[in-house]
Amino acid sequence: MNIEKVKQALGKVNDPELNQDLVSLNMVRDIKIEGDKVSFTVVLTTPACPLKTIIEEDCKKAVSAVGFKPENIKINMTGEVRKHGAQGKEALKGINQIIAISSGKGGVGKTTVSVNVAIALSQMGAKVGLLDADITGPNVPIMMGSQEPPKVENAKIIPKENYGIKYISMGVLVPPDQPVVWRGPMLDGVIKQFLRDVIWGELDYLLVDLPPGTGDAQLTICQAVPLAGGVIVTTPQDVALLDSRKSVNMFKQMKVPILGVVENMSYFICPKCDERTEIFSYGGGEKAAKNLNVPFLGRIPIELKVREGGDSGKPICAVNPEHEISKTFKEVAGKIAASASVTTINAKQPVIAI
Ligand SMILES: Nc1ncnc2c1ncn2[C@@H]1O[C@H](COP(=O)(O)OP(=O)(O)OP(=O)(O)O)[C@@H](O)[C@H]1O
Ligand SMILES: [Mg+2]
Repeated sequence: MNIEKVKQALGKVNDPELNQDLVSLNMVRDIKIEGDKVSFTVVLTTPACPLKTIIEEDCKKAVSAVGFKPENIKINMTGEVRKHGAQGKEALKGINQIIAISSGKGGVGKTTVSVNVAIALSQMGAKVGLLDADITGPNVPIMMGSQEPPKVENAKIIPKENYGIKYISMGVLVPPDQPVVWRGPMLDGVIKQFLRDVIWGELDYLLVDLPPGTGDAQLTICQAVPLAGGVIVTTPQDVALLDSRKSVNMFKQMKVPILGVVENMSYFICPKCDERTEIFSYGGGEKAAKNLNVPFLGRIPIELKVREGGDSGKPICAVNPEHEISKTFKEVAGKIAASASVTTINAKQPVIAI
C-alpha cells in the first residue's frame, strides 16, 4: 500500500459545500503509512465547518475501500480559514475574512446576531474580531459587557477584549449619553480608522455590525475592504422582508457576495405551557432567501434569555453555551463560515452585478 493510492482515494472525496475534491482543494496533508495503519490530516476551510463529521466519514469510507481496516485509519480533522482575495482592494494584513452583518430594517437583531455568532465562532476555534460600524447608535459595548475606553499605543487603538472576542466601537470612545452627530464623510473616516488604525492582530474572521439600511457605513465598508460576504438579518414579517431585499440588492450592486439570510425572532415558545406563537409570522426569511436565490442560514426564536443577555453584557452563547438557543447560534455561525469559505474559494471568479 502506498501514499499515492491513499491520495487517489481521497481525491474522490468531495467537500459537499465547495463542490470540489479534498486533494485539489489542498486539504489533505501528512499522509503516513506504517504497516497496515494509515494516518492523515484534513485541513477544512474553517474550524466551524458544519460538515466535519460527514467529510470525516467519507474519508474513512474512501480509504477503507482501498484496503485499510476502519480501525487502522486515523484522521486528524482541523480547520484553517483561508484569506479572501483582495478583489482589487487593499486587504487588511492579518485578517483572513471580513463579514458584514446587515439588515434593511432597524431593531431586527443584527447586533445580537453579530455578538453571539462571534462568540460561537470563537468557541469552535476561530480567532474573531467585531467592528461596530454603527457609529451613531453603537450597541456592541453594552452587549459585550464593557464600555470602558480602549488603550492607545503609538496612535493605534488596542481593541477591547471580552469572551475571547476583540472589539471596537464608538461606544467605548465617547461617553454613553453623548450623541454622535456627524455627517457622512466623518462616519466614513472613523470606520476606515476602525479598520486600519486598530491593532487587530491575526484574525480568522472580522465581523462588522452595520447600522440598519443602506447608507454611508455600508458604502464605506463595501468599498474600503474586500468582503468575504454580507449576511442579512431579518424578522419574518412582510415589512422587514421588503427592506431585506434592499440590503440584498445593495450588496449585489457593490459586487459583495451574499452569504445568506438569517431569520431572527422567528417564533416564541411559552416557557410556562410550551405553546409556540409566531409573533412576526413564520418562514418569511426562508421564502425570501429562496426568491432572492441566496442561502438560508437558519432561524433564531425569540427568547427572553437572549434579550437579558444582551442588556446585561452577558451574551447567552458566552454564559450558557449549552442552552438550546446557543446551539442554534452555533449552527448559524457554522453556516455563515461555510458560506464564506465558498465565496473565498470562488473569489477569483467575478461576482455578477444585477
Ligand atoms: N432572538 C431574540 N430573542 C429575544 N430578544 C432579541 C432577539 N434578538 C434580538 N433581541 C432583542 O431585540 C432588541 C434589538 O436587537 P438588536 O439591538 O440586536 O437589533 P439591531 O438590528 O442591531 O438594532 P439596530 O438597528 O438599532 O442596530 C434588543 O433588545 C435585543 O436584546
Ligand atoms: Mg445594532
